Formats: sequence, C-alpha cells, structure tokens
Amino acid sequence: SGPGRFEADLTAKPAIARFAGGVETPILAYDDETPGPLIEVTEGDKVTIRFANHIPGEETTIHWHGMPVPAEQDGNPMDPVASGADRLYAFELPEGSAGSCWYHPHPHGRTAEQVYRGLAGALIVKPRQDPIPAAYGDTPLFFTDLRLASDGSIPPNTMADLMNGRVGDHVLVNGQKKPVLTLPAGSRRRFRLFNASNGRFLRLTFGTAPITLIGSDGGLLEAPVPGLRVIDLAPAERAEVVVAFDQPGQVVLRTEDVDHGWMGPGRPDTAADLMTIDVTADRAETAPALPAKLRRIADLGPPVATRRLEFTETMSMGEGGMKMGFLINGASFDMNRVDVVAKAGQTELWEIANLADMDHPFHLHGTQFQPVETERDGRVSKAPYRAWKDTINVARGETVRLLVRQEQPGLRMYHCHILEHEQLGMMGVVEVR
Ligand code: C2O
Ligand code: CU
Ligand code: CU
Repeated sequence: SGPGRFEADLTAKPAIARFAGGVETPILAYDDETPGPLIEVTEGDKVTIRFANHIPGEETTIHWHGMPVPAEQDGNPMDPVASGADRLYAFELPEGSAGSCWYHPHPHGRTAEQVYRGLAGALIVKPRQDPIPAAYGDTPLFFTDLRLASDGSIPPNTMADLMNGRVGDHVLVNGQKKPVLTLPAGSRRRFRLFNASNGRFLRLTFGTAPITLIGSDGGLLEAPVPGLRVIDLAPAERAEVVVAFDQPGQVVLRTEDVDHGWMGPGRPDTAADLMTIDVTADRAETAPALPAKLRRIADLGPPVATRRLEFTETMSMGEGGMKMGFLINGASFDMNRVDVVAKAGQTELWEIANLADMDHPFHLHGTQFQPVETERDGRVSKAPYRAWKDTINVARGETVRLLVRQEQPGLRMYHCHILEHEQLGMMGVVEVR
C-alpha cells in the first residue's frame, strides 16, 4: 500500500459460519468473514480494490456507501459483476470525506438477500487531523441482524419481511452475539455505530451512561452534543459517540423496541441486549477532555433549485394474491429511466415527503447532504446542528428537507434503505450533469 494509497483484494463467496453452538450456517462473505474485513483509509487516499465475484450463479457489485466516488465506481445496479468475473474499483477520497462509511452489494433485485446472507463491511475514512483524543480508542460496532432456521440455515424473506423490512432473531455486533468488552473505571471510549441491518431500527442505550454524540454518517460534527441517553439509528445510519464509564460495574449496550409503523399482525418486540461492558475497579489514566470544537462543516449556501420526492405505498391484486408496492413519486424503480436531473456543483433543496404508513429511511448515493428541517402536522423543526448525512429516517407523515450538492457527474441512486423496500421499487435515479 504505502502512504496515500490503499490497495486490497476482496472476494465475495460462499462460506460457512458457526453462529449457534457449532451448527453450520451457509453464508455469503467478503473473503471469509461476516461482516467483511474492516477497511481503514485516510482522506486523500487513492483506493484500489481488486474485486472477484465467486458467488455461484449470482451477479453482484460493491457499493461504497457514503463515499463520494465517481459514478462508474459506485457499484450501481447498472454495473453488475457477473458470477466468476472480477473488476477493479478505483477512487480517490477527497479532503473532507472522512466518515464512518460501509460497503455492501447493490445488484438489481438481489441487494436485500445478499446483505442478509452476510455481505457488508465497515469502511472508515479517517480525517488527516483527528481532534478526538487517541486515549478514547476508536472502536467500530457494526450491527447486523440475523435469522436462523432450526437447521442453522438463513431462511428467505417472508411476506411480512418484504412489507416491513426484515427483522431477524439476533442482532450481531461485529459478527458476534453479545460480546463482552472489559474496561477500567474512568475510561472514555469512542464508538462508531453502524446499523447494517436490512430493516431493523435501533434505539441504542448504554445503561445509564451519558452519551456524547460527536459524529454522524459523514464524519465529525462541529461541536460535541453531550448528555444524550439514546441514539436512534434507522437502517444504514451511523453515528460516532463518546461514552464515559465512570463507575465499576456492568453496562449493557441495548436496543430498545422501536415501532416504525408495522403492516399486518405480529409486530416483533425489537428490544435486545447487544453487548456487555465490564467496567473493572482499576482506574484508567485520566484522559484528556473532548475539545469544544471538532471541525468546521461547509456552508452550502442558499439552494438554487428544489426537488420533491414523495414516498407512497400501494396494495394491488396480483397473480399470487395481494402485492405491496413501494413507490417514489408514483413510480417503481426502473434502471433505464432517469427520474431527476441535477446540476453538478449546484446547491439544491431536496424535500422528501413520506405520505405512507411506515417510516422510510432515505439514502442518496455519491454525496453527503445536510439536514435542514423536518415538518410534521404543519410544524417545522430546524435541524439543531449542522451535520453530514447520507441516510436519514423520514417518519410516516413527515417531510424532511435537505441541502444537497452533488459534485460529480453521472447516474446516482436514491432509495429507501429498508432493503426489502428498495428491492420492491422504492428507488430512483438522479442524473448529475
Ligand atoms: Cu447503502 Cu444504495 O445503498
Ligand atoms: Cu449508498
Ligand atoms: Cu421503506
């Protein structure tokens, strides 16, 4: 690799995991791991990934979620890598692109399945100058959602999964069920939290330990937001936090139950204990305090164009019975259609209106955006601070407004990141010219 360069080989292939007491579970894996290998680069790096698709009979791609890579390197459904084929992904990550990003497949009609079978990994783009004290560490917690049949296999999506987004039986943290972390009292830890599940909404708590939010999908905030008890992460959202573990004892990282609007009977209770932090009686060395200012986030200026996207759900009678449709501006995804034309380098206001009965996390490829405000029942609440995001939950009945500036030309996808909804059509194409 060498300074300023990152090179790696990555192969998608079938593998065997043992999640539950030695039972063999056939999965898909990048190399042999699920989640895939943690990739750490620094902003400014030139990244080259030699990718091979060894999945029998299935095309795939790698999408670089959250990174401003050129459109033809972004693993779009229009650029499949055939089974048995390979390709090079090459891009340069510009200054300012630091963030907690991730990578996952994006083939047409198969993304949801390939992700729940095991294909996803974290890609951390580090800033050149990191203002967070090194003594806090930098620990990724990559949450995935697993369902196992009694024979150890991963069952396919049910009708309820397709409607509501798949929710499994086990939330894994870095591929493990309820791992334990041991820390001395007085420790402060930096965690990067990734919701890499297909359809599970997370509401994370660290017992009663206060949480300081320091970053969003696209890197650090301008200033820390202290005193939080809960971090909400819709599918595909990420956050960076600092947690103080002052007293000896046990702290449980837990997700509370979230109702994001459920269709049909049998809404599962989504609460679960995820990880235990054993805080020992030894005292940690006193760590330096968090700086009051973390960085500056660019002012994108006033928007010169407005785009409106409306999320709706439809029911229709099809051959196999009732069929749910998930639409944006009344249309289902068509990769040969351009839905929105935007201008490179121009600041635009994107208005995402959720007219449906479920929450839909909106995601845009190729850039980070800035949330401006949320409107609900005619009341507008301004975003409390400036942040870079690439995924934002749009709750049922809400309209969210975002500042978007796409810098690079080409075709980009936007979609609901409940991957079952993406698969059922809740996706569109923006052409940036
Ligand atoms: Cu993380 Cu188009 O997706
Ligand atoms: Cu993406
Ligand atoms: Cu959705």
